Amino acid sequence: MMQKLIGPFKQIVTLAGLPMKGAVSDDQLEIISDGGVLIEGGLINAVGNIAELHKQYPQAEVQEIESPQVLLPGFVDCHTHICFGGNRAKDYAMRIAGKTYLEIAKAGGGIWDSVTQTRLMDQETLEKDLLKRANRHLADGVTTIEVKSGYGLNVEQELKQLRAIKNVNSKTSASLISTCLAAHTLPKDFNGSKAEYLGYILNELLPIIKQEQLSNRVDIFIEESAFDKENGHKYLLAAKQMDFGLTVHADQFTPGSSEIAVMCGALSADHLEASGYKEIAMLAASDIVSVVLPGASLGLGMQYSPARKLLNAGACVAIASDWNPGSAPMGNLLMQASVMAAAEKLTTAEVFAGLTVRAAKALNLNDRGILQTGMMADMQSYPANDYREILYYQGQLKPQYVWTKGKLSTT
Ligand code: NIG
Ligand code: FE
Repeated sequence: MMQKLIGPFKQIVTLAGLPMKGAVSDDQLEIISDGGVLIEGGLINAVGNIAELHKQYPQAEVQEIESPQVLLPGFVDCHTHICFGGNRAKDYAMRIAGKTYLEIAKAGGGIWDSVTQTRLMDQETLEKDLLKRANRHLADGVTTIEVKSGYGLNVEQELKQLRAIKNVNSKTSASLISTCLAAHTLPKDFNGSKAEYLGYILNELLPIIKQEQLSNRVDIFIEESAFDKENGHKYLLAAKQMDFGLTVHADQFTPGSSEIAVMCGALSADHLEASGYKEIAMLAASDIVSVVLPGASLGLGMQYSPARKLLNAGACVAIASDWNPGSAPMGNLLMQASVMAAAEKLTTAEVFAGLTVRAAKALNLNDRGILQTGMMADMQSYPANDYREILYYQGQLKPQYVWTKGKLSTT
C-alpha cells in the first residue's frame, strides 16, 4: 500500500502517554520537534523525527509542509446539537436583556421553538444546513463530531433528524457520531405523562433506530424542566438493555442527575455547571467522562462547570461545544475551550486532552485522539512555532491544514 510522509512540522504534540484521568501538567506532553508522520491506508504508521523517517521510508511519497506548523490530533467534539432548523435569536435578545427562562418560554421560545422550526424543515434542507455546520467545524480542526437528535420529539421527526445525520456523515469528511436525544423534553403535543412519553420512545422509536442502524447512543436531559431522576433512571436502564451506549445532560441547573449517569454506567455525564462536592467526588471515582460545555455557559451567562475541581479530584474531563440553536449558538470549540481555561485555570495539556483523547473516550472511540502508530490519521496543523500559541490566540488562530484519515481536507 502507498505510504505518505507528511512534514516537517515545527512541533508535533502527540497527546500520547497521558493519564486518562485527573490533572495533567504541560511537561507531560510529548512534543516531537522537526517531526513527520507516515500514513498508510488512512492510519498513522509512524510518528517521529522527519530526517529519521526519510531515511527509514525512502520510497514514501512526500507531502512537504513549507511553513512552520504545529501538528495536533483532530479535535473530537463529543456533544453537539447541530441538526436543527431555524434559529433562536429572539431568545438570545430576551436573555441578554435579562428575561428569565420562564418568560422566554411563555413568549414562545425555548427548546419547543426549535422543535417547531425543525419539524417544518424538510429532510433535504436539514441535511444541507447540517452539512454546512459540520464542514465549518471540520475547517476549524474538528474531525469527529457527535450530533444529537432531540428537536423532533416524535417517532417520525426524530427519525428524520437521525436519517439526516446518517446521510450527511457520508457527505462530509468529518466523522459524525449520532445520538438519539428524543428524551430532550416532553413535547407539548404529546397526550400523556413524561413516563408515558419515555415508554413511547422506548417501544416505538428505539427499535427502529436499531433496525436502521441510525445510532447506538441514547441521551436524556434530566432536570426539573425536563425528566426526573426516577423516570430517567428507568429509561436509561431500558436503553442499556437494548445495547445503546448512554450519555446524560446532567447537573445543568440543579445537582443530582450525574449520580444517575454514574449508576447506569453511562459513557459520559455532560454539563455539570451545578455539580457540587458530592457529585464531583462521585464522578471522579467512576469511569465516566465528565464533559464540560463552556459554550452553554457563555450563551446563557452562567458559571462554568467546575473543570478544575473535577480534574483535581481525579475525573476524566472532556470539553465540548454543545453547539445548538438555543443555549450555545456560537459553535467555536477552540475559542470556548481557551476562554474557559483562563477562567478555570486549566493547563494546555488538560485542554488538549479534553478536546482529543478524553473526548474520544466519551464516544467510546479508541482509534483517534492521539498521534501514534495504529491510530486514525485525523490531524490538524496551526501556523505557529510553539504549541502554546494555539490557546493564546483564543480561537482566532485557525488550523491551516486538516487531514481526515490521512487525506488533506478541503472545505
Ligand atoms: O445542552 N440542556 C438541554 N439542551 C440543550 C439546549 C438545547 C436548546 O436550548 O435548544 C443544551 O444546552
Ligand atoms: Fe446539550
